[in-house]
Amino acid sequence: MKLSTSCFLCSLFLVAVSPRSGAVLVDFQVAQPPPVPTQAKQCTIDILQRDFANSYGAAEIVQYTPPTNCGAVGSWAGVTLNLTVTSNGTQYDRLAVFTFQNVEIWRSSTPEPTTTGIVWNYVKDVTRYTPLFAKPGTFILELDNIVDVETGLTGIYSTTVQATFYAFSNQHPAAKKANTIIPLSTLSNTTGILQSAVIFG
Ligand SMILES: *[C@@H]1O[C@H](CO)[C@@H](O)[C@H](O)[C@H]1NC(C)=O
Ligand SMILES: *[C@@H]1O[C@H](CO)[C@@H](O)[C@H](O)[C@H]1NC(C)=O
Ligand SMILES: *[C@@H]1O[C@H](CO)[C@@H](O)[C@H](O)[C@H]1NC(C)=O
Repeated sequence: MKLSTSCFLCSLFLVAVSPRSGAVLVDFQVAQPPPVPTQAKQCTIDILQRDFANSYGAAEIVQYTPPTNCGAVGSWAGVTLNLTVTSNGTQYDRLAVFTFQNVEIWRSSTPEPTTTGIVWNYVKDVTRYTPLFAKPGTFILELDNIVDVETGLTGIYSTTVQATFYAFSNQHPAAKKANTIIPLSTLSNTTGILQSAVIFG
């Protein structure tokens, strides 16, 4: 009796969270919005766009240049990164490592997709890394994935990363920042995951 009651509740819950048939499932993130001044002037730049399919050891490597149209470079009131990923099919959850100027600034995991598709978005406060964003350099996102129809792995992770800069003003002063940031890293310019895994793993 107890069992059938809990299964009944369980199926009600599943109905409640299932998306409309054929709809893309939105995986929302349980997080506070970053504490950045949303009233300040903002400039958004594209960092990278990549469909991670057979991407083992083949990181996305892009060159970054700071924007000059959002106040003095390096004096921003805040900086955020916006990650958006969509995937359809069958796939494992995969590790994602972001390194910028040889500093690991973000480590995350993908959810597993569904055959009708998932999408998720995360906005990360990276203001503490302002000294890195103030100079040109190499931005790497490594997301090792395998697509292989024979083993049934079909999900590609289609990924977009943008950066938004918040201009300082009297109302929104420049964020406090470190003088310098020194990474514990192999300083590799071709891999994200092995930059720090070699040291810590
Ligand atoms: C993040 O990027 C996505 C895709 O470009 C966009 O639709 C969304 O509005 C952006 N969100 C923020 C807070 O910038
Ligand atoms: C998944 O399917 C949706 C809806 O057709 C589409 O918008 C999206 O681009 C697809 N994503 C991938 C990674 O193929
Ligand atoms: C990585 O790139 C930077 C900037 O181009 C360069 O100064 C550095 O020597 C490179 N490091 C390695 C390990 O190739």
